[in-house]
Amino acid sequence: MQLAERLQKIPPYLFIELRNKINAARAAGIDVISLGIGDPVEPTPQPVIDELARAARDPANHRYPTDEEKGMLAFREAVADWYAQRYGIMDLDPETEILGLIGSKEGCHHFILAMVNPGETVIMTDPGYPAYRASILMAGGEPYNVPILAENGFLPRLEDIPSDVAKRTRAMFLNYPNNPTGAVATPDFFADLVAFAKEYDILICHDNPYSEIVFDGEKPLSFLSTPGAKDVGVELNSLSKPFNMTGWRIGMALGNPEIIRGIAMVKGNTDSGIFNAIQYAGIAALTKCQDNITEMLEIYRCRRQFVVDTLNRLGWDYTPPKGTFYLWIPTPAGLSSIDFATMLFEKAHVVVAAGAAYGEYGDGYIRIVLTVPDERLAEAMKRIEKVLQ
Ligand SMILES: Cc1ncc(COP(=O)(O)O)c(C=O)c1O
Repeated sequence: MQLAERLQKIPPYLFIELRNKINAARAAGIDVISLGIGDPVEPTPQPVIDELARAARDPANHRYPTDEEKGMLAFREAVADWYAQRYGIMDLDPETEILGLIGSKEGCHHFILAMVNPGETVIMTDPGYPAYRASILMAGGEPYNVPILAENGFLPRLEDIPSDVAKRTRAMFLNYPNNPTGAVATPDFFADLVAFAKEYDILICHDNPYSEIVFDGEKPLSFLSTPGAKDVGVELNSLSKPFNMTGWRIGMALGNPEIIRGIAMVKGNTDSGIFNAIQYAGIAALTKCQDNITEMLEIYRCRRQFVVDTLNRLGWDYTPPKGTFYLWIPTPAGLSSIDFATMLFEKAHVVVAAGAAYGEYGDGYIRIVLTVPDERLAEAMKRIEKVLQ
């Protein structure tokens, strides 16, 4: 049976392929260590679990979610307060400028469905998060890749985007702290981005699920703290990474009320929103669990340092990026990302993501995650060290 053409255009999803590879090796009795998928192993904080249990027992929550596609007002208010506290953004109206999401991935997809017509161009970065391309293609849009290179701090050079491309572009995806490179953006870059978006009438979707995961004194930053940002776009965020809640599927969209209205319209016609009990649990995360973020950052900081020390002992001269729980590591000279990832898998039984899976400019890098238990990370680095020596 033929799948719809929109699906035939989409490359196989990187993580599904990785998962298949891992499962096949494990089924053959091999002790595989996966550093391929960014999914925290530490548990969700207890207050969140307790609140879910309480809310799940209340039959009032067993019905369709309150305010369905928008998310309940109490959740949207908690998001507004969190954005005020964490990013100093005081002017978000929970009624019209905030929306609950089933994770930021859903928001990316629904942003495109809401705002982009078939045939319109959508800019994304190369390397970039693969789900953006899939969403653009599923909606009949045309992805246009802008390289992000080490020498530019893995930020796109907006001035290098040809003006004919910018003129026909409807929307642009960005994500800083960046998956896969770990790079962070600056207020100046965001100011340039707003000016660029205004000049060419481009809608910005800034996907910020790693906003809290920054190191080395870097301050968490929201695109919405840039003057004029709300005129041109939205920010997506998520409870997945800061509160170890990837499986719970809860996030938020914030910013331009017309875009928020569009995403809500798509959601109202497709998913009807987030289970109320999960929204109550989300409120508990946002209001009671900031310490969890501090603790997680310390865990990631130690793991990050451990990997960097190992790599530098092996001959790299590697300075880690300032954001996310990923390390974007140049491959040894002469090895493509696929060659190096394959070698690590075959000889060390360690799975890493090949940079080429994130785009042409991702070649020459592998991405490893810090979301594995300390002892598994130590074992993985020991095996890698042995292979490389
Ligand atoms: C850039 C980016 N956006 C979105 C997501 C999805 O996050 P969520 O769990 O909120 O859907 C991820 C997850 O890996 C990501 O890396």
